[in-house]
Parts: sequence; C-alpha cells; structure tokens
Amino acid sequence: MADQGVEYRICPLNQLPEGGGVLAVAGEVEVGVFRVRGRVHAYENRCRHQGGPVCTGEILGRYEQVLNPDGTVIGERFNPDQLRIACPWHGWEYDLETGRCTADPGYRLRRFPVEVRDGDVFIRV
Ligand code: FES
Repeated sequence: MADQGVEYRICPLNQLPEGGGVLAVAGEVEVGVFRVRGRVHAYENRCRHQGGPVCTGEILGRYEQVLNPDGTVIGERFNPDQLRIACPWHGWEYDLETGRCTADPGYRLRRFPVEVRDGDVFIRV
C-alpha cells in the first residue's frame, strides 16, 4: 500500500483569502496553501529552478496586452482570472491552479493533496 502521508490542519477556510495564501511548516516540509477561484491548492515551497522559496513570491494575474484589430496596443493588464506566483529569486512564474511553470510547462511545483472538511483546510504531506 502506498504511503498516505500525514494530515495537517492549516486554518479555517474563511481565513484563507481568495487569491492569497499562507505558508505552513508541515513536519519538515514548507508548504504554500493558496485559494484560487474557490479551490485550495498546496505546493512545496521549493522552486524547480534552484530551490528558491517560490511560495513566498508575489501573486499576480497573467500579463496581457489589449489590442486593436490592427495590432496596435490599447493597454495592458494583469488578468485576475489567471493567477500566477513569481519566485522571488529569479522570477520563474507558476500557474497557481496547476503548479506548472508558465515558461516551460515541463516543470511543475510539487503538489500535496488538500481537503476542506467542516470549514477547515487540511493537507496531506
Ligand atoms: S530559484 Fe526560483 S526562479 Fe530561480
């Protein structure tokens, strides 16, 4: 039988802000726990580039240019429907819902199982 890991209670769901997160130490593993569009995701706080503390990085929407039909730029925006986290060491960005690196989807953050039960968030590490 596969190792089921150990369950850790993180916080009440209502203390996890939409589009934000918390950093927790679960045993010997640092885990970032984020709430995105109502769902909760948990990733190891370890960047796939050089091991930086990715889960402490800035959360921002995907950068987009808004264009006219002729290709001229009307403006720029950060799309709040596609949130990313940027590693504070060298700026690698990861999609907060999938954990995939936006520049190279072959890299992805280590994900941990999440369960919301009786209003509390639990992860299994
Ligand atoms: S260690 Fe994260 S971008 Fe380099």
